[in-house]
Amino acid sequence: MEQKVYIFDTTLRDGEQVPGCQLNTIEKIELAKSLELLKVDIIECGFPVSSPGDFQSVVEISKNVTEPVICALTRAVEKDIDAAADALHFARRKRIHTGIGTSDPHIKYKFNSNREEIIERAVNAVRYARKFVDDVEFYAEDAGRTENEYLARVVEAVIKAGTTVVNIPDTTGYCTPWEYGEKIRFLMENVPNIDKAILSTHCHNDLGMATANTLSGIMNGARQVEVTINGIGERAGNTSLEEVVMILRSRKDLPFYTDVDTKQIYKNSRLVSTLMRMPVQPNKAIVGRNAFAHSSGIHQDGVLKNKESYEIINPMDVGVNDSVIALTARSGRAALNHHYQRLGIELTPEELDHAYEKFLLLADTKKDVNDSDLLIIVGVNRNEAQRKIRLKFLQVICGKNSVPMATVKLNIDGEICQATASGNGPIDAAFTAVKKLINRKIIVEEFLVQAITRGCNDVGKVHVQVENRGHLYYGFSANTDIVTASVEAFVDAISKFI
Ligand code: KIV
Ligand code: ZN
Repeated sequence: MEQKVYIFDTTLRDGEQVPGCQLNTIEKIELAKSLELLKVDIIECGFPVSSPGDFQSVVEISKNVTEPVICALTRAVEKDIDAAADALHFARRKRIHTGIGTSDPHIKYKFNSNREEIIERAVNAVRYARKFVDDVEFYAEDAGRTENEYLARVVEAVIKAGTTVVNIPDTTGYCTPWEYGEKIRFLMENVPNIDKAILSTHCHNDLGMATANTLSGIMNGARQVEVTINGIGERAGNTSLEEVVMILRSRKDLPFYTDVDTKQIYKNSRLVSTLMRMPVQPNKAIVGRNAFAHSSGIHQDGVLKNKESYEIINPMDVGVNDSVIALTARSGRAALNHHYQRLGIELTPEELDHAYEKFLLLADTKKDVNDSDLLIIVGVNRNEAQRKIRLKFLQVICGKNSVPMATVKLNIDGEICQATASGNGPIDAAFTAVKKLINRKIIVEEFLVQAITRGCNDVGKVHVQVENRGHLYYGFSANTDIVTASVEAFVDAISKFI
């Protein structure tokens, strides 16, 4: 029989601790609601004693999000627990997550204490938290480096004091998967009252082993996993939600399931990336831009014959519209033919051979071979192909204490049109002006600006992904002026479907 693994999302707590990723209360509510739609079981949404802003966010999320358990973090300190209990007042289902460091370095250097005193403080914190809520989770910070025999004594004591979930964090991301799995197994086999609680994994990714450690924890008895969207979190991050959920879903040989609605995964990934201004690495498993992009000729041919040749996950299962057959110098005839068919052009084998030769010459010199290039190669609709939209003029006004405004002139089909718009920044203003000129519903799905080197005089590369009538189109540009690069990339994407 399959067993449920509870998904404890800590994007809003461990994830939000990352410098530069701080969210305001409105943004936190938006993300918490999106996590509710994703159907996570528990949302850890803050550390209320740490700041009035964090406290208020926990209050507002408690009022606005009703399905998942709402959890607040504390140290094993009464004033922290008081703050958490107050902040959780309005939550329909609430949990206090309290704990203390249990490894020798933590006991000695952080607390200047000893093992017995730490157990006493842990037990007192759990008992105190139980006065406010029935659902108390305990974390043994740095459990990854805590000796197993002592950890088992701590776990037994906090369960006796009333905790129902015990979190075993590999705080420093130091454990190997077998070591972490053995730790969980040791606790399952040596804590006499372990049947009264569930063990939770909480792994950090310092050595790139967070997902493997989490999986090893599940295989050895853990039934809750603490994860973040896109794996964001302290230093190298936390275990990523999408990886664990999709492993349990894809590997039918593993007898576990989660309640996560996987079709919401990509949407949540984009939301976290946008709100936290944290780009997702293109090759990130499950949610990276290239996660479902096939570029080598052999792979493309295989995928076009049958997706299962190289795809272990259906992109639609995680909310991605379709896989991408990228055209590069390594693409084969099958990929090229696929793109021509997509454009409604049927080529004979001879025509395809001829087009392929020309395509290879072009692909060697041009990174991004677009639809217009393909049309030019086969000489079809040459005029149509040249009917690109071009950015003729751009002027933005922005700066501190001024409303960002942009004026854009486009050459659309030989006609010059102009629009002006305001926005929450120069790029928003310029995109809005472009949208005014293009009479179609365009949704910006992805917007990524990257510096090529490190200097402030650098060239900015901009990738834009837009959605029009259910299809995704990519645009790219590079310029020392990132606003111009952004608008050019946007126009590049639009020109692919106009
Ligand atoms: O990594 C860690 O140990 C933590 C605890 C506070 C749960 O985030
Ligand atoms: Zn952590």
